[in-house]
Amino acid sequence: MRKPFVAGNWKMNMDGRSSVDLAKRLASESVGIADQKVTVAICPPFVYLQAVVKALDGSSIAVGAQDSYFEPNGAFTGEISIPMLKDIGCTYCLCGHSERRHVIGETDELINQKVTSAINGGLLPILCVGELLNEREASKTEEVVTRHVKEGLAGLSAEKVSAVTIAYEPVWAIGTGLTATPQQAQEVHDFIRKLLAQMYDEQLAQEIRIQYGGSVKPGNAAELMSQKDVDGLLVGGASLKADDFLAIIKAAV
Ligand code: 13P
Repeated sequence: MRKPFVAGNWKMNMDGRSSVDLAKRLASESVGIADQKVTVAICPPFVYLQAVVKALDGSSIAVGAQDSYFEPNGAFTGEISIPMLKDIGCTYCLCGHSERRHVIGETDELINQKVTSAINGGLLPILCVGELLNEREASKTEEVVTRHVKEGLAGLSAEKVSAVTIAYEPVWAIGTGLTATPQQAQEVHDFIRKLLAQMYDEQLAQEIRIQYGGSVKPGNAAELMSQKDVDGLLVGGASLKADDFLAIIKAAV
């Protein structure tokens, strides 16, 4: 019932030419898979978004931004707004990625403002949640994920929340080569779905897609996707290589 959703987060990588080359290869080699069987999106750095949107013209691969600011315009030097992202053809926007939480210092309150402005501005937010290693070791995974989900979605009606994808990304698994086991991922995804049912209703909880992210590779994608509540994958490093990302898209079908 939930269509698989694979997104590639390029983070602060690539240049103009390699962005366009990769986007074109993904577009041509995912024909018949992207959109029909799996939703696919890629999230390049801001400065390459327009070139990637153009390179993907006519394909079913959508484009997302890695971040945004919650005000539509004004004196916010260096920031990029939701209307700007929409204007250049973005569909999705990552909100609260762990690197923005832990490297840049974003708070749950700011992330909530970003999620809210994305929905109100017509972009589909991917709200990233997940615990640090010491939090997992202290058995605080559920507490942290509850805070990220509840505060990230604060003030939003069920109708608005239906636009959201949640990405569970345990921070200890990001870029480390350590992947959560399929069972560990399933446990947290199941927990998040039950939390959504409590916060809203069962129907909404069943509809929302929950992606797993953290060292997803062609070799572990199918097993992660085989879990009942793993509806998609948010891929970092492996989304920079066409062969790897295409293999992950195919594994998600
Ligand atoms: P890696 O796949 O490189 O571990 O990154 C995961 C991630 O942070 C995607 O948003």
